[in-house]
Amino acid sequence: MQTDVNNRKIWLDGQIMNVNDAKINVLAPTAQFGLNVFEGIRCYWNDEKQQLYVFRMKDHYQRLLRSIKLLELDCPYTESEMRQALLDTVRGNEYREDIAVRQTIFAKGFGSWGSSGPVGMFVSPIPKAKSSAEYNKKGLHCCVSSWRRISDDVLSPRIKCGANYINSRMAQREALRNGYDTTIFLNELGKVAEGPGSCLFIVRDGILITPQLTDSVLESITRDTVIKIAKDMGIEVQERSVDRTELYIADEAFLCGSAMEITPVYSVDKHLLTDFEGEITKKVHTKYLETIIGKCEEYSQWLTPVYICNVYK
Ligand SMILES: Cc1ncc(COP(=O)(O)O)c(C=O)c1O
Repeated sequence: MQTDVNNRKIWLDGQIMNVNDAKINVLAPTAQFGLNVFEGIRCYWNDEKQQLYVFRMKDHYQRLLRSIKLLELDCPYTESEMRQALLDTVRGNEYREDIAVRQTIFAKGFGSWGSSGPVGMFVSPIPKAKSSAEYNKKGLHCCVSSWRRISDDVLSPRIKCGANYINSRMAQREALRNGYDTTIFLNELGKVAEGPGSCLFIVRDGILITPQLTDSVLESITRDTVIKIAKDMGIEVQERSVDRTELYIADEAFLCGSAMEITPVYSVDKHLLTDFEGEITKKVHTKYLETIIGKCEEYSQWLTPVYICNVYK
């Protein structure tokens, strides 16, 4: 039986329980200082195959382990235990629909911001998957944020930790207050970085361009997916620094991420790019949607089936 959002089953420190019964200490460093690292992992339902596929599961755990390492958390869980926890949670809820899963490693107990443990883990499905308004739009009107993206020498955007999202929050709140759907950050050098919860691509003269990973962006799995599928379709891709003015003269642009998938950018700072999904964006978007639900044999290694799963990809 499928559970409703308020009664979903979640996994906490080795036990599956009702979300309302999952408790943490209010003094825990995760609650006080955002001392946690996490992944938002998508699972897509393929009706024809009657199967739910986890998308790029191994890549998510590899990034999670890198975040754990960089924050020096004493994580007691192995990659295989993390994976099992996700599968047990999703199976326990018997989902037969697209979902997102939040898997978080957090500092619990009575520690401080400097503590390395004790460390807990929870796994919680998010049935509606698209938790913010901007994730549900057909196209986005964006501004360039007056807030700079955090940089590697201050608070690395490479680490997917809760505290980093306060920088995202400042920028997103400003954008909404000023009537935009979302925002695009510049980095400390004034080059284009990323969105508050997504990566950015622009198209110029048929070439797909995205800021490089050292320009203050998260090492995004969707960004990597887009680069691979675009190259396989014969589209030239450049990873390089992008100027703010290139956003205004781009032929097309889109934001992408596990939650956002691929969403066209219609305008930046009121400079209109397109008011529809551009040709290259559409090509990549269509292939992406086919890939995540298991319609592309060539990318089947990215999918882990939930309901028969003993094979870990
Ligand atoms: C700041 C930021 N950039 C990029 C992304 C996209 O990353 P991914 O494609 O791995 O979901 C996210 C999503 O979590 C994000 O929060």
